[in-house]
Amino acid sequence: MTMPNSIRRMFSEVAHRYELVNKVITMCMDGYWRKLAAKVACASGASAVLDLCSGTGDMALAIAQTASCKPTIVAVDFCPQMAMKASLKLRDVGGIVIVADVKALPFADSSFDAITVSFGVRNIFTGYKAFIQCLKEMKRVLSDGGKLVLLETSQPKWRIVRRLFHCYVRSVVRHLGGWLSGSKKAYRYLSETIERFIDADELSSVLMEAGFHNVAVIPLLFGIITIHVAIK
Ligand SMILES: C[S@@+](CC[C@H](N)C(=O)[O-])C[C@H]1O[C@@H](n2cnc3c(N)ncnc32)[C@H](O)[C@@H]1O
Repeated sequence: MTMPNSIRRMFSEVAHRYELVNKVITMCMDGYWRKLAAKVACASGASAVLDLCSGTGDMALAIAQTASCKPTIVAVDFCPQMAMKASLKLRDVGGIVIVADVKALPFADSSFDAITVSFGVRNIFTGYKAFIQCLKEMKRVLSDGGKLVLLETSQPKWRIVRRLFHCYVRSVVRHLGGWLSGSKKAYRYLSETIERFIDADELSSVLMEAGFHNVAVIPLLFGIITIHVAIK
């Protein structure tokens, strides 16, 4: 199993090229998915939104650009190199960036109306027990009725789509990502997490086990990507 310190190190190695690789491997669809997730998160208004595993801040920026309610936005990532890029990106929209681990969030209970995690939960899924603990930590800082929005790769239900997707991940994402970023190890790790991550139904069950309710799933691109919405 990959330990948190080596995950942090891998992200620090790819931070300088992270956005470029995302654009290339998703054929520029990543921005559209984040905007959609941002709209879902802020649909019923929010005064404070927390973006976890924020990376270089693209999801937090999508919230700033999409939300008509103009919430306070706090972005959290445990990798300083990623957080540094997020700070520069969010400076003009007043977003706050904090370096912290999602397992121990430095916020009081019920501090946020919505939490977003884009392409992040896959990295914190090191086993069911630890994952549920993480989700409970997210729930702690959400206000009652608050919304958790997870944008993540998933396992398409149709076998043929799943096979093609995994083939694309193994042969394109892994090698192209490794080549563009200069870190073969990081994109080998990322492609492995994509293939072994749980499917949409399992993720819904885990969310309910962590105490969330009204879990809804929005499948995108034949179920390759999903948005899970869960209420505290
Ligand atoms: C694949 S990137 C996603 C970045 C961004 N949300 C996006 O949409 O592109 C995953 C991010 O999660 C961060 N991360 C992984 N585990 C974490 C943890 N336990 N606590 C905080 N951040 C974590 C990594 O540093 C990395 O920046």
